[in-house]
Amino acid sequence: MFAASFNRFARRSVMQRPGVTRVKAAAKLDTARFTGFSRAASAGPRNIAPVQRHGKVFTDKPESILGSPTDEKYNVPTGVREKLGKDLLLKPSHPLGILWKSVQEYFVTVDPDYNFFDTNAPVVGTTQCFDDLRVPPEHPSRSPSDTYYVNKDMVLRTHTSAHQCQYMRQYPKIPSFLCAGDVYRRDEIDASHYPVFHQCEGVRLFPTSEKNTKEIEEDLKRTLEGLAAHLFGIEVGENTMRWNEDYFPFTEPSFELEIFYNGDWLEVLGCGVIHHEVLQTADLDPQKVHGWAFGLGLERLAMVLFGIPDIRLFWSEDPRFSEQFTADSFANKTVFQPFSKYPPVMKDISMWIPEDFVDNDLFEMIRDEGGDQVEKVDLVDEFVHPKTKKTSKLFRVTWRDMSRTLTNEEVNAKHETVLERVVKELAVELR
Ligand code: PHE
Repeated sequence: MFAASFNRFARRSVMQRPGVTRVKAAAKLDTARFTGFSRAASAGPRNIAPVQRHGKVFTDKPESILGSPTDEKYNVPTGVREKLGKDLLLKPSHPLGILWKSVQEYFVTVDPDYNFFDTNAPVVGTTQCFDDLRVPPEHPSRSPSDTYYVNKDMVLRTHTSAHQCQYMRQYPKIPSFLCAGDVYRRDEIDASHYPVFHQCEGVRLFPTSEKNTKEIEEDLKRTLEGLAAHLFGIEVGENTMRWNEDYFPFTEPSFELEIFYNGDWLEVLGCGVIHHEVLQTADLDPQKVHGWAFGLGLERLAMVLFGIPDIRLFWSEDPRFSEQFTADSFANKTVFQPFSKYPPVMKDISMWIPEDFVDNDLFEMIRDEGGDQVEKVDLVDEFVHPKTKKTSKLFRVTWRDMSRTLTNEEVNAKHETVLERVVKELAVELR
C-alpha cells in the first residue's frame, strides 16, 4: 500500500518522496491515493531540489473564461475547459450528485441550520485559493505545472477551501456550511486521477464562550465519524476508524480520517481546527469565534461506495453507465456492473529529458491528444547516463476506449502526434 498521505500540504510527504519510488508505487492502482486533496502524489523530487516549473500551454487561448480575461499565464487545455459547467453534482441521478445529497442529508440531522452551497463558479482568485489560506508564495501547489491559471491572478480552484473565508465573513448569519464544487489540478494519469474532480468543504464556527479548542476538536471528530458511519454503513469504533495527525497550512491542529472498508484502510478526509490567521482574514476575532473545517474528495468515495472502477466513467455519457444509477442509489446500495472492457493498446515513449522537464506537461499533452481514451501513463524506467548525466525516462501509455475496441492504426496516428509534440514543445530527445 502506498504509505504517504495523499495530502499535498503535508511536510512529511514533501520530504519523503524520491521520484522513481513514487512513480513505481503510483503505477499500481491504489484508490486510497487519489483524492481529493492531494497533489503530494505529483510533488516528487521538485520540492527537494526545485526545478523550473513549466505548465505549458497546449491549446488556443480564448479571450476569457467564465468572465475572467485570459493573459500569458493561461494554461487550460481544451479538454479541461470543456468540463466547466458540466455540474455533475447538481444531477440527482449521477453518482456524484447522489453522494453530495447524502452528505447533506447527514448534516441536516446533525444540525438543521447548516447552509449548503454548490453553485460557486470554479474560477477564483489566487488570494482566495492560496493567500487567504496561508499557502506560502513558493508552495508547489501554486505552480503552473500543477494548477490551471486563467490569468496571473485567477485560477481554476484547486480545492473548495477557496470558499472558506467568503462564507466565514458572513458569521453569525452563516454559522456553519457545506460548500461543494468541481476542482482542477494538473496531475498524473491513471484510473483514479483526472484533471477535474469534486470536493465538499465543511465549516462550523462557535463562540469561544461556548466551546474551547479541545471541545472544537472533539466536535469535529464526532461529527466526521458520524458522517463516515452514515456513508459507509459502519459503526463508529476503533476497528473501523482511525485518526492520524496531518498538516494543512489553514488548520492547526490538522487530522486525517481513515476508515476500514472492504478490507483496506481508506483515507477519507482532511480536517482541523481553523487557524487563527484564517479567522482573522475572514474578519473574525479568534478571541470570540473559532471553529473547524474539513474537505472531502467525492470521486474516491463514490468509487468505493458504488464500485466504480475508473474515474473517467463519471464523465461518461454512455447510458450503460448513467442508466445504472437513480436518485435512490445510495439507499439502494447500487453497485456498478462493469460493461465489458475493450482491449488496451500500449505505446511506449522512451526519451532523454531536458533538465527542466516536468512529467505533468507530458501527461497533459497526452491527454490533450487522447482525451478519455488514455487510461493511464506509467513511468516504467528511469536512469541517469553515467557519462552524459542525461536522464532517460520510459513512459508506457495505455490507450483504451470505454465503449469500443481501438485499432492499432488509429492509436498509432495519435501516438505519432504525441511524439512530434513532445519533441517540439517539451524539447525531449526520443531514444
Ligand atoms: N483543502 C484541503 C485539500 O484539498 C482539505 C482540507 C479542507 C483540509 C479543510 C483541512 C480543512 O487538500
